[in-house]
Amino acid sequence: PAPAVPWTPREFEAAARARLAPEHYDYFAGGAGDEVTVRANEAAFGRLSLVPRVLRGAGRPRTDVTLPGGRAAMPVLVAPTAFHRLADPEGERATARAAAAAGTVMIVSMASTVAVGEVAAAAPEATLWFQLYVQPDMAFTETLVRRAEAAGCRALVVTVDSPARGLRDRERRHGFWDLPEGMACENLRDGGRVRPIVMSPEISWEHIDLLREMTTLPIILKGVAHPADARLALGHGVSGLLVSNHGGRQLDTVPAAVDLLPEIVAAVGGAVPVLMDGGVRRGTDVLKAMALGAGAVAVGRPVIWGLAADGERGVTRVLDLLRSEVEQALTLCGCASVHDLDPGMVRRSCR
Ligand code: FNR
Repeated sequence: PAPAVPWTPREFEAAARARLAPEHYDYFAGGAGDEVTVRANEAAFGRLSLVPRVLRGAGRPRTDVTLPGGRAAMPVLVAPTAFHRLADPEGERATARAAAAAGTVMIVSMASTVAVGEVAAAAPEATLWFQLYVQPDMAFTETLVRRAEAAGCRALVVTVDSPARGLRDRERRHGFWDLPEGMACENLRDGGRVRPIVMSPEISWEHIDLLREMTTLPIILKGVAHPADARLALGHGVSGLLVSNHGGRQLDTVPAAVDLLPEIVAAVGGAVPVLMDGGVRRGTDVLKAMALGAGAVAVGRPVIWGLAADGERGVTRVLDLLRSEVEQALTLCGCASVHDLDPGMVRRSCR
């Protein structure tokens, strides 16, 4: 049962589930295949321990971070997730206002149900980045990039873990293929029609090079999992990487995102910031990822649960909880800022 008042980011899930149609709850919660990776993302944080430092006189910690697409007041960004109007009538407008209030970045999904320009108009103070699936029709990809630029987005987050759609049994079981009447992927309007998103196995590094020539916006590749790809990315003009397994929704049995992080950080060698998402539910999770070298983390489902539970206010609450948890955990670790974290403060425990 849903608790009367959700007190933790995780508790918002029960409140959201009570309000969502079952097929929409399953769309948001579910993942690929046996959902091994969905479970692994959260479980991996549970196997990591934090070893605090003491007596450092660090004072009240700062939680802000500087990123390729600007500064954020907290190291927890809003990951790109599709279809926010399934969770709340205001959809991505509500999410953007909450992100602006928290002083953090919202990565607007290409599959948003409010056009990116309208998201920006609804939350002029928000720092927005735009998530892009490169479309094989590069002329249309350029249209999308121009829409993101016109909306004032400060970075492009190019999702590269989706040459095809993941195997989603929960969606198949419900027959959930389409948005309800009156909702659409508004960024994909092309004349009188709305294009479907093409997930194409033809996309390659050449497309990243074309994109690099197309825009001056920083490009962050999302979904790099293998250190060899992290090294390759450095030769293609990217400004950052976002280590992610898409919240376990693409290839099942990919390792937990936080377990992929150290090798990618080592491969990149400080050349560009490395962000991560997947399974972040507590301030202590944020510290673990950042101690292992992440420049920031992002949260997907917790934001959706806040939105479905209580609209803009719910997202504000989830982000506020995470920010204050990060601050408290930094204090308890003897850190004046996230820069005081280092890999020596994280241990792998068997549990
Ligand atoms: C996603 N994710 C995602 N990623 C992306 O690049 N474009 C998208 O449109 C979406 N859509 C989407 C919908 C839903 C319902 C979920 C749950 C996720 C993946 C997302 O950006 C992120 O990688 C994960 O959500 C992170 O894991 P957690 O925080 O949900 O555990």
